[in-house]
Amino acid sequence: MNSSIEKILFSEDEIREKVKQIGKKISEDYKDKDLVLVGILKGSVVFLSDLMRTIDINCKIAFLTAKSYGNSTMSSGKVELEDTLKTSLGEEITGKDIILVEDILDTAATLYAVREKIKELNPASIKICAFIERNIKRNVDLTPDYKCFDIQDGFIVGYGLDYAQNYRNLPYVGILKREIYTKIN
Ligand code: IMP
Ligand code: MG
Repeated sequence: MNSSIEKILFSEDEIREKVKQIGKKISEDYKDKDLVLVGILKGSVVFLSDLMRTIDINCKIAFLTAKSYGNSTMSSGKVELEDTLKTSLGEEITGKDIILVEDILDTAATLYAVREKIKELNPASIKICAFIERNIKRNVDLTPDYKCFDIQDGFIVGYGLDYAQNYRNLPYVGILKREIYTKIN
């Protein structure tokens, strides 16, 4: 185990099993649809690349960039989206059945902002697939349609999730030792 990790929360085997279940469900639900998985960079890349290989119907992928954390472990509440979204993604989204794929749904500020922007591109439908949902009370009305795991507290990393851009490559999800982020912040 990586020395910055206090405890493994979800192992590689557990993750593989859950992702497979979600992929199967999506394959059934979108059988006659025009599915596009839209990954929110960078955190969703590991999840999305595993998830798409468990989906056995036709699907496309697209990506967009959204940032809210910077180098902190607290959500800033402000969400930055690329302003080229319309020109870069318009054709890939209009009239299609979109699933937004996110690493973790926390305050949901990021996905709320992304969903509003995506709506402007007139997709046929939009749903949300989060690898992890943090169970907190939210100010925005948004819950995932598909998810693999729930957590409560603790800052987690691995399987795409980062702290200051590190630890995304860990194949499991673990709780980051507190001393790692109190040292820098
Ligand atoms: P939200 O907008 O508050 O829902 O924040 C979502 C984003 O915050 C995610 O896409 C992650 O990039 C980041 N995030 C939230 N909680 C964690 C965590 O425990 N570890 C790493 N990143 C997190
Ligand atoms: Mg992040």
